[in-house]
Amino acid sequence: MTHVILRSCCNDATCVPACPVNCIHPTPDEPGYGTTEMLYIDPDGCVDCGACVDVCPVEAIAADYDLTELNERYLDINALYFANPAVQGYSSTPAQAHRPTWAGENAPLRVAIVGSGPSACYAAETLLAVRGLDVEVHVYERLPVPWGLVRFGVAPDHAPTKAVTASFMRTAGRANFFFHLNVEVGLDLTHEDLMAHHHAVVYAVGARSDRRLDVPGEDLPGSRAATDFVAWYNGHPDAAGASFDLSAERAVVVGNGNVALDVARILVSDPASLARTDMAAHAVAALRESKVREVVVLGRRGPAQAAYSNPELLELGHLPGVDVVVEPDGFEVDDATEAALKAEPWSAAARKVGHAREYAANAPSGAGRRIVLRYSASPVEVLGTERVQGLRIARNELVPGPDGTLRARQTDRTEDLDCGLVLRSVGYRSTPLPGLPFDDATGTIPNAAGRVVAGQDPLVGVYVTGWAKRGPSGVIGTNRRCAEETVQTLLADHAAGNLNPPIGTTEALTELILERAPHALDYRDWRAIDAHERALGKEHGRPRTKLVDVAEMLAVARGVAVS
Ligand code: F3S
Repeated sequence: MTHVILRSCCNDATCVPACPVNCIHPTPDEPGYGTTEMLYIDPDGCVDCGACVDVCPVEAIAADYDLTELNERYLDINALYFANPAVQGYSSTPAQAHRPTWAGENAPLRVAIVGSGPSACYAAETLLAVRGLDVEVHVYERLPVPWGLVRFGVAPDHAPTKAVTASFMRTAGRANFFFHLNVEVGLDLTHEDLMAHHHAVVYAVGARSDRRLDVPGEDLPGSRAATDFVAWYNGHPDAAGASFDLSAERAVVVGNGNVALDVARILVSDPASLARTDMAAHAVAALRESKVREVVVLGRRGPAQAAYSNPELLELGHLPGVDVVVEPDGFEVDDATEAALKAEPWSAAARKVGHAREYAANAPSGAGRRIVLRYSASPVEVLGTERVQGLRIARNELVPGPDGTLRARQTDRTEDLDCGLVLRSVGYRSTPLPGLPFDDATGTIPNAAGRVVAGQDPLVGVYVTGWAKRGPSGVIGTNRRCAEETVQTLLADHAAGNLNPPIGTTEALTELILERAPHALDYRDWRAIDAHERALGKEHGRPRTKLVDVAEMLAVARGVAVS
């Protein structure tokens, strides 16, 4: 018997030190941790103690005897990871939970964190966990509600992934943690204000902008960023007034990452099941009326190069009433890649190709809704006059680039797909912030181990973590290690006496916020909104009904009755 890690694994490795026999890998110290899709349990090492189940923040671990038809494949998936000879030398000595102890002078440290998503929360948690460190953490969030990407990015049908907010909530409830919600840095407070009132400022602002296709017709109504669609169905206040035309039978999602698969899945899911999630009510209503029956997911390279993860790909096959179809044209694997996949059947690429081949071999059930995986094709023009009526795509061939990886080269073979909606999901980037350097090529804030640098020069007391630091990669838990690195850098600067002390007391900071942002909300206000949303949701059998209007959020926080 063994325990098994499942689809919702967040990679934050909380389970690793809990395991008495160190059978959960890769650990954060092992090669491959930074790029692994998920963590895996070695079935030959597991003693079935269940300790990992209790600490997993996203309910991603189950005993093999509790597996259901939906997740039984993860038994083999976990075991296959350990078939790789490179991982067979991993230690079985229990990992130590390391809670660092502060050894420097104990001058109080006041840190501002801008943003309240996973990278911000992990940075706060890491700072507050340092034994003996006298620290205050002030988190600034432009919206009245926290958790960033967990609330507004994670798909509503991925409820276990959202469970990580329980640990964020515990961190936010600590005595030396201060929420300043509904406060926009750059509007209510400047970077200079933050620098003056804290020893250090950590930017955890994510990647709010998306990459464009740069093809004719891209700005036609009906051609949108997938992130707009995600923000809309997740109830982001900025997208509450948006609408998406779902009146055509076919939609095309351009891109081959997890966000592309998320939006494809949502577009063809049964609205009755979505109604039981925390999806925004306006989105549930619109999807109930949707005429979309087919979503084409377009990848510019082949199935071995797709950026989505295996768990996301496998999940498509479990959607009730949905066929997953693979378009044969473009679904080839070249000989060299085929040989490499055969040599490493445990690799993520080999498993992606294997799963896609299973889909290709399945006879369609004629269920009514379809996801079509189409590889080796790129958009060349969004077609239509008043609005999107189709997408012209070109067949690509794969050729080795200078670094040996296969690149897509467009051919002159084109095809027109009728569709009414085009969602692009081809990459994300941060946006420049006033007063901070920005690397336009990578779309990130330049830094050395989290310390922001301008050219070769470090900016004293300015740090970055999360997607703004490393680009949009990894899953929720990847941000834990990223934040730990940034906090270690910050603490090294603090220990060396390199940080400038704030100009005033915490009370002076509170007064400044009251003056500049009288609309600011705190932890208790967020608790009021949270309780209100949960109560609303409970009435309808949902985990919560999200408020999507800022004025309504403020009214609830202030105890004003909302109908
Ligand atoms: Fe197995 Fe989890 Fe215990 S991996 S040994 S059940 S901590």
